Order: sequence, then structure tokens, then C-alpha cells
Amino acid sequence: MTSPMALLIPAALALAAGAALAQSDAVPAFKDVDSIEARVQGCVTCHGQSGQGTSNGYYPRIAGKPAGYLYNQLVAFRDGTRRYPPMNYLVAYLPDSYLREIAEHFARQRPPFAPKETGAADAVVLARGKSLVTAGDPQKGIPACVTCHGAGLTGMEPGIPGLAGLRPTYIVGQLTRWRVGERHAAEPDCMKRVATRLSDTDITAVAAWLSQQVAPRDPSPESSNLVRMPFACGSQR
Ligand code: HEC
Ligand code: HEC
Repeated sequence: MTSPMALLIPAALALAAGAALAQSDAVPAFKDVDSIEARVQGCVTCHGQSGQGTSNGYYPRIAGKPAGYLYNQLVAFRDGTRRYPPMNYLVAYLPDSYLREIAEHFARQRPPFAPKETGAADAVVLARGKSLVTAGDPQKGIPACVTCHGAGLTGMEPGIPGLAGLRPTYIVGQLTRWRVGERHAAEPDCMKRVATRLSDTDITAVAAWLSQQVAPRDPSPESSNLVRMPFACGSQR
């Protein structure tokens, strides 16, 4: 990927030179400053240069998630239906077409994953997490997470995010918000059905197990497969 400095420095020099020239000669330099890489510089301090995440466990990896999913989240932050003040503030007033472009940019990125967590979760907790993710819990009406999030946990086009590479604090935060009704998705909100059936212990267990998995070799989301999904999801239409 082109480094932003490589883009910005020549652009700045061109601008300085352009000041001495006729107005029309200076115009092309603005095109470089206005590249998508330059525009997302406000995002990379928290999400990483290619959307891979940073060492802060609450700032999620966004690289490689389906563009439709990322777009839905940006719209939700803009419209205030998903709340995190710095995000709400950053995308306030941005038009749909711009949000779509940002979503497509991060969906195309394939940066390496951070090393998996090597925390000290105990074996019973990890076993519960693994069984919820891969098999679900039929008695509690919880479907296996992999039926929607993909066999390799890389998500499914167009609206289901990969869970690979997310940290426990972030996963626990999101599932808890869904359960208490603070995070919503398009109706029918299948994740609400899932999250409201998970206990606190279940949430801790899936978060611990997910964060200890080896990163997938190919992080690309699977193609849409409505037949395999146990519940309908409004965001998969
Ligand atoms: C101050 C740090 C910060 C900055 C700057 C920031 N984000 Fe975020 N972003 C977050 C956090 C934290 C979350 C999770 C918020 C939550 O739901 O609790 C998030 C969530 C997201 C999500 C949803 C991720 C998912 O998997 O659901 C997207 C997409 C996103 N940000 C894109 C962007 C874009 C694009 C920019 C730049 C315009 C940006 N962010 C700037 C911290 C930041
Ligand atoms: C019926 C399909 C389905 C099942 C089963 C399912 N999910 Fe989801 N999940 C979704 C959809 C759709 C979204 C995105 C919703 C939106 O647009 O915000 C999502 C989003 C999430 C997110 C937010 C990720 C992020 O980047 O913010 C987490 C975490 C999550 N699911 C965890 C789980 C876990 C854990 C399980 C199993 C216990 C599970 N899901 C089962 C469909 C499903």
C-alpha cells in the first residue's frame, strides 16, 4: 500500500510550488490530498493504518469485514442509532456516498492479524466458548455462531462481520450492549435473539475462546448463504 506520507509530501510540495503558478496549475495537487488514503487518516490512530486494529483492546479491527457491514455501521454511527461519541462525531454529516467509499476501502484491506491472545482463561471456560461458537446450545436455543459468521469466522457477505481478530473487551462490550438493547441492527435483529440467550458466563467464554484462535489464512468473508442461517437477519437482505 502507498504510505500516506508518500502521498502527502509530494502533494504538499506541489501545493507550495503551485502557489507561485497560475491557479489552474495548482488544482491537480488537491486531487492527491483528497485520495481515500488521505481522507481516512483521521481513522487510523484508533483502527490502524490498514484497519488492522491497534494495541487498545477496545478499538476493533475493521479491515476485510464486508463492505455492506461496515457501511451499515457508519450509517448507524452517523444517525446515532449506534453510540460511541468519538465515532458519532467523526462521521456526523458525512453523506451516504462518502461512507460507502470509506467502507469499501477498509473492506479491501488484508493486513496481517495481531498475534492471538495468550491469556489465562481456564480450560472449562474455553471449552464452553468453543462449543457455543462451533455447535451452539440447542437447549437454550443458541445457534452455532459459525452458521452465520462463517466456518473460518471471517464473516459472510454482505452484512455479517468476521469475528477473527477481535479482542475480548470489544466482543464482551458488543454482546452486552445487544443484550441490554443499546446496540441494534436492521430488523429482524438476529444478533439480539442470539445475545439475549447468552449469560454473562457464556459471553466471557465466547470472547475468550474467539480471541485465542489462530488467525485465518484468508480473511475474506464467505459469500452469502441464506439457507445455512438459523435465523433471518435484516442486515443480510
Ligand atoms: C478515538 C478512536 C477512534 C477513531 C478516531 C475512529 N474510530 Fe471507529 N471505532 C472506535 C471504537 C472504540 C469503536 C467501537 C465502538 C463501540 O461500538 O463501542 C469503533 C467502531 C467503528 C466501526 C464499527 C466496527 C465494527 O466491527 O462494528 C467502524 C466501521 C469504524 N469504527 C470506522 C471508523 C472510521 C471510518 C473512522 C474515521 C472516519 C473511525 N472509525 C475513527 C474508535 C475510533
Ligand atoms: C443468525 C445469524 C447470526 C448468528 C447465529 C450469530 N450472529 Fe453475530 N452477527 C450477525 C449479524 C447479522 C451481525 C451484524 C449486525 C449488524 O448489522 O450490526 C452480527 C454481529 C456480531 C458481532 C459484532 C461484531 C463487530 O465487529 O462489532 C459480534 C461480536 C457477534 N455477532 C458475535 C456472535 C456470537 C458470539 C455468536 C454465537 C453465540 C453469533 N454472533 C451468532 C449474525 C449472527
